[in-house]
Amino acid sequence: MENQDQQNNIMPRIGDQAPDFEALTTTGKIKFSDFAKDKWIVMFSHPADFTPVCTTEMSGFALRKNEFDTLNTELIGLSIDSIHSHLAWVNNVKEKTGVYFGFPIIADIDMKVSKLYGMLQPNEHETAAVRAVFFIDPSKKIRLIMYYPLNVGRNMDEILRVLEALQTSDKHGVAMPLNWKKGDKVIVPPPKNLEEMNNRLNDDSCERTDFYLCKKEL
Ligand code: BEZ
Repeated sequence: MENQDQQNNIMPRIGDQAPDFEALTTTGKIKFSDFAKDKWIVMFSHPADFTPVCTTEMSGFALRKNEFDTLNTELIGLSIDSIHSHLAWVNNVKEKTGVYFGFPIIADIDMKVSKLYGMLQPNEHETAAVRAVFFIDPSKKIRLIMYYPLNVGRNMDEILRVLEALQTSDKHGVAMPLNWKKGDKVIVPPPKNLEEMNNRLNDDSCERTDFYLCKKEL
């Protein structure tokens, strides 16, 4: 058996309700089910405070927080470090670079939340969370999950792109093609029966490759 812990670890999946928890954060105690009601949440883990890649990533979130605000989205970070470590790191980065991590960062010293969300992946590291990102909608449903290893930082443009793609898909009932970004054409849902298929074949309101692949401007 490869790794008993991993085999027993039930990871949250896309479409699941985000597991509830209580935790201590840099902005105070939170109960997740009461956190950021009516908003989207991007919850992300980093392996450790005071490490180089993590510092660049957290700074990336902080520097683009206004774009998350515009998308009605709250940020919440996490690592398996103490609150004292988090506070010292936040202060250190502010002093050295002027960048302030003003969003809550969970001090998951007992690994409770990391285990609940499958952020602790023991074959990558026994005691440090991988670089996970959970996109959670206002009904607290998990809509997209990213996992990165310890040695590769995430891409902030991609994080914002998929957040906007999810929200645009919900708002307009459309899907997003390869490399979609705001302003690009979107995919009209394909027909579900013969009648819809035949109608689509005569529908010139969208850019039609064939009945199952049609794009339109929003
Ligand atoms: C980093 O953020 O630089 C890092 C953290 C843990 C392991 C390796 C790299």
